[in-house]
Amino acid sequence: MDIIPERANYDLQADNFDHRTGLLAVTCERVVAGVEALNGSDAAAHVFEVGCGTGQLGMALANTFEQYTGMDISPEMLKQFKLAYRQQTTATPSSSVPSSLAMLQADGNKVWPVADNSANIIFSSRAIHWLGVEHIVAEVWRVAAAGESILIVGRVERAADGWESLLRQHCHTLVRQNGLKPRNGERHLKRLLQYYNQAPQGPQTDERFGAQVLAPKIADRWYQKRTLQQSLDDWAGKSGLAGTEPSAKIKSNILAELKTWALEKYAGDLPTETERHYVLYGIKIFS
Ligand SMILES: C[S@@+](CC[C@H](N)C(=O)[O-])C[C@H]1O[C@@H](n2cnc3c(N)ncnc32)[C@H](O)[C@@H]1O
Repeated sequence: MDIIPERANYDLQADNFDHRTGLLAVTCERVVAGVEALNGSDAAAHVFEVGCGTGQLGMALANTFEQYTGMDISPEMLKQFKLAYRQQTTATPSSSVPSSLAMLQADGNKVWPVADNSANIIFSSRAIHWLGVEHIVAEVWRVAAAGESILIVGRVERAADGWESLLRQHCHTLVRQNGLKPRNGERHLKRLLQYYNQAPQGPQTDERFGAQVLAPKIADRWYQKRTLQQSLDDWAGKSGLAGTEPSAKIKSNILAELKTWALEKYAGDLPTETERHYVLYGIKIFS
């Protein structure tokens, strides 16, 4: 049985999402170049993006591929996307604006707002973990274009043994101790990949779907200045914690406990520069 995750509330963070956790322009360019490479450089494609948010990548995808449809549950995130798109087209009226572009408000845990067999590339950056795995699989089979298409999941990853990852892990432990179920993007992706690894491999001749999990591709890597206090302030400043909605009191207790834990563990000596990778996970879909 698939568990449908709770609704993510990004409306409250939309105004400062790009400032707080946006991607650099160069990272967006490299991610889109990575998507092109995984897709075999076929620009005549329809890209359907799940959880497009403020459209940092959506804009670059729309400028690169023939047709682009972005879907997000948050009207406020989409408002930022539309604003940024208008600013871009005003600034460069003659730039090659795609002939077909749509930004749709919809819940990705329900039927996706695109036709059967209509998408050549199904892309999702930092968002797919909000959707149930079985639902993703069913909708990908439905919307994937006939023949060969590709599902691409993008994630920002940190060193597994770095303090940011350990802090996050400990945060999940504390959230769990408070009776809540933290959302774990890495585990969610593993389940999704496991599904496709177990699917019939390669093109199928008997009208069954086939899949092929490709090797992960690092699209960009960078160093980011980050202090413990910044991480804690960041979590304090947005709604919820680890994908759950604890009360304000529980949240502030957890953050205080995390601070004590990290200062004790690292004796106050945490590196302030941490390496991050943007990784693309491609899965070829044969239908
Ligand atoms: C971390 S943001 C990522 C935004 C963008 N893809 C990026 O990488 O910058 C996650 C996005 O997923 C969207 N989201 C969460 N749950 C969703 C759902 N059930 N259906 C559609 N979008 C969802 C949120 O509204 C938010 O815009």
